[in-house]
Amino acid sequence: MLLTVENLKVKYGNIQALQGISFNVDKGEIVTLIGANGAGKTTTLHSICRLPPPEAPKVVEGDIKFKGESILSTEPHTLVSVHNIALVPEGRHIFGNLTVKENLTLATYARKDTEGIKRQLKHVFELFPRLKERENQRSESLSGGEQQMLAVGRALMTGCDFLLLDEPSMGLSPLLKYELFRTLKRLNQEGMTILLIEQNASLALHLAHRGYVLDTGEMAAEGTSEELINDPEVKRAYLGG
Ligand SMILES: Nc1ncnc2c1ncn2[C@@H]1O[C@H](COP(=O)(O)OP(=O)(O)OP(=O)(O)O)[C@@H](O)[C@H]1O
Ligand SMILES: [Mg+2]
Repeated sequence: MLLTVENLKVKYGNIQALQGISFNVDKGEIVTLIGANGAGKTTTLHSICRLPPPEAPKVVEGDIKFKGESILSTEPHTLVSVHNIALVPEGRHIFGNLTVKENLTLATYARKDTEGIKRQLKHVFELFPRLKERENQRSESLSGGEQQMLAVGRALMTGCDFLLLDEPSMGLSPLLKYELFRTLKRLNQEGMTILLIEQNASLALHLAHRGYVLDTGEMAAEGTSEELINDPEVKRAYLGG
């Protein structure tokens, strides 16, 4: 297994956000974690990435392993520099006063392979032609959907082979959602492993191979996407009937 989360219990002060969840992601898979507002989806990603305090959730029990080795006591930056995992955070967090190209190249600070970076930029512009057309535009002037493309493009620029995405469809028009998910599918076909956090359960399950349903900090269901789509309880609670 590439990523294994075992009995993860996480707190913010006295609030227990995760009550002991377990899940895994294997190389080459698209796995989705779905759930309602406050279910603990972002907390799960932030626990994997170990964001610095004060936002950082505190792992009180359980483990997070990458290729069988615990990553809990490693330096957070090794996630990118050693394990090639990149996060596309909720709310994008792009630098508005920098241009599109500057945002993209900023993400390559840990890379030394100039040729590889050039190829990567070409690939990102090929995946998202709108970014190429706007490469010298200040990022704050991009539409919400274009900013989301930039956030994904920036993660790709690290040279990652494992993408963690926190609600990438948020705020996008139906057409852009579809476009973005088609791009994620293409990336996966090119070898990218993907952990996708989504409130839009239908969209996520149609893209992913497998899924997990998180309900107020506990795992409520898991299975292949097909199993979950046909699960009456999942249908009722997350798929609108
Ligand atoms: N920094 C924090 N301090 C205290 N409590 C927090 C913090 N971040 C999240 N929580 C709490 O932890 C729980 C899980 O929140 P989380 O952000 O992980 O949910 P989510 O599934 O990502 O929700 P959404 O779909 O709204 O993004 C919530 O009850 C939330 O109030
Ligand atoms: Mg969230």
